[in-house]
Amino acid sequence: MSPAARAGAPAATLTQAKIPGARLFRRGKVRDVYEAGDGLLVMVASDRLSAFDVVLPTPIPQKGRVLTRLSSFWFERTKAIAPNHIVETDLARFPEPFRSHPELGGRSVLVRRCERIDIECVARGYVSGSAWAEYRKMGTIAGERMPPGLLESEQLREPIFTPATKAVTGHDENISRAQLAAMVGHELAKKLEAVTIALYRSAHAFALGRGLILADTKFEFGFGPEPNPAPPPSKVSDPRYMASGPLTLIDEVLTPDSSRYWDAARYRAGETPPSFDKQYVRDFLVASGWNKEPPAPKLPPEVVEGTSQRYLDCYERIVGRPLDATDAPPVRTGGR
Ligand SMILES: Nc1ncnc2c1ncn2[C@@H]1O[C@H](COP(=O)(O)OP(=O)(O)O)[C@@H](O)[C@H]1O
Ligand SMILES: [Mg+2]
Repeated sequence: MSPAARAGAPAATLTQAKIPGARLFRRGKVRDVYEAGDGLLVMVASDRLSAFDVVLPTPIPQKGRVLTRLSSFWFERTKAIAPNHIVETDLARFPEPFRSHPELGGRSVLVRRCERIDIECVARGYVSGSAWAEYRKMGTIAGERMPPGLLESEQLREPIFTPATKAVTGHDENISRAQLAAMVGHELAKKLEAVTIALYRSAHAFALGRGLILADTKFEFGFGPEPNPAPPPSKVSDPRYMASGPLTLIDEVLTPDSSRYWDAARYRAGETPPSFDKQYVRDFLVASGWNKEPPAPKLPPEVVEGTSQRYLDCYERIVGRPLDATDAPPVRTGGR
């Protein structure tokens, strides 16, 4: 049985939403974001998958639903640490025209539109990925000296904050904490770090209880809407940022696309543990000899199936039930 059939309806993949009459706010690599009036946005997670910053031509069944429902699960669990942008997860309670589009169900959220802080707030508890590459070469992570002799994938004594700028095009660029402070001010930099680390610690402990290691993850924050007579600040360095609404967790949280999860049972320091993220697809693409320039090659059915299954497995491990069995009433964490 295909993962799509196993996870129940709706089985069809969604590559790009088509909602006549709705105004597109932003089309990201994965999400189509629409204006919903009243300072609200509808974020639709498609089944698109990007690797090496290129969107692949083959959609991954259930991916958008996994990302949306896993994010909603975590937003609910972390709301005491950081207020978030969620207003509504039940499509039937969305404004028109969205609620008349059943294909959006389970893969869309109604959120408060926030003034985004263009920083990727990364927390790392283990030495992996680009942090391992930097440490091996220079003995530092995000420019800060680390103890000698760390192994690949080894747990750090304390989780660390390694921010990056959100690049408009191309790759995000790592910046030091001092650079972040210079960009957004000391007060906001300290707050972003403290909230990021608190979110990481809490999620790491919870995931470990479910047999998963949260090696690292990335958060995005914005300032919530509040009556503000001045035009919204357009630059992160604008001091009016500090005068805007409450610091709010936005985007997606603690999904396989934004996080590195490992199976705790298969974890060994000194090795690269298999992960639930896109590594499986990346391995296929590298082996195919693709030069990483668009267009990307189509994925064969077994890679599509294997990838879909990894997303569904990650959801099931964290939430504790398979995606199709989570028919509990939708959560509403925000008020209007
Ligand atoms: N509450 C919000 N207010 C404003 N922008 C948001 C909010 N939540 C998410 N976003 C933005 O919407 C976009 C989501 O689309 P996505 O496919 O994740 O984009 P990307 O290609 O940048 O990863 C991102 O640019 C994200 O920063
Ligand atoms: Mg994104």
